[in-house]
Amino acid sequence: MSDPGREPQAGNPLQGLDEWEHFVKERYPEPEQESAFRDYGDNVRPGVREFYRLNHSNQTLEFVLAKERQYLALNHRRMGVWEAMEFLNTLVDESDPDTELSQIEHLMQTSEAIRRDGHPRWFILTGLIHDLGKILCLFGEPQWAVVGDTFPVGCRYSDRVVFPEYFAANPDARDPRLQTEHGIYEPGAGLDHVHMSWGHDEYLYHVVKDYLPPPALAMIRYHSFYAAHREGAYTHLMSAFDRERMGWVRRFNPYDLYSKGHEPPDVEKLRPYYEGLIEEFFPAELAW
Ligand SMILES: [Fe+2]
Ligand SMILES: [Fe+2]
Repeated sequence: MSDPGREPQAGNPLQGLDEWEHFVKERYPEPEQESAFRDYGDNVRPGVREFYRLNHSNQTLEFVLAKERQYLALNHRRMGVWEAMEFLNTLVDESDPDTELSQIEHLMQTSEAIRRDGHPRWFILTGLIHDLGKILCLFGEPQWAVVGDTFPVGCRYSDRVVFPEYFAANPDARDPRLQTEHGIYEPGAGLDHVHMSWGHDEYLYHVVKDYLPPPALAMIRYHSFYAAHREGAYTHLMSAFDRERMGWVRRFNPYDLYSKGHEPPDVEKLRPYYEGLIEEFFPAELAW
């Protein structure tokens, strides 16, 4: 079986899911490295562009509703968090084998950076699990339905979403009902009522939503919603609670983007600590 995370191929133009994250990091460098002129547009790898083209043109409201029906019943698999980490780790990213971390290493690098800064245990755990929704790839979903910046569907696209020009090919762009400012939503309805483009954030949120405190759930559900948490877009759909949630997402984001580059964590040595942490919040098995 072909591994959708592994080979650049029609429909899966990235060399691996991490290639999207490299791009995001270039687009949103650490504040001290940010140049006055942010020119990510011209030197983007063709695979990344093609990935966004597919993402923006295929993530319709209808597609999202279908994926919600398919996955949010959580009847695909039962497994514990550690098992899910090992399952995700079978998704090998070969884009840069010398420097690339495995999926477990990325997760632990994120959580270890949060731990070093003395944050609460739920925050450390959030770092550990935040990308587990990427197992969607192993269920056969194409890259553009697993990673990528997320955005609301069913209403007008913000030009603060990266590569907004690719939305022109989305069939929803030709449905006037879906192209008003609020679209199918009430003003200030709150993001809980807004359908986001389908991907690993929304999926994992539903798997873990009964077990973690609200700030953790916000970090998981909206960590790829860069148009909102980095660009300040879509406030017209948000409630007061959402504005608070975006603050939590912003606290999480630097650990996700900028913890890479430290030493790879010693997974086996850290495992007992993390198994204890997982047990503190989660049952032995979760429904995926
Ligand atoms: Fe992610
Ligand atoms: Fe991540």
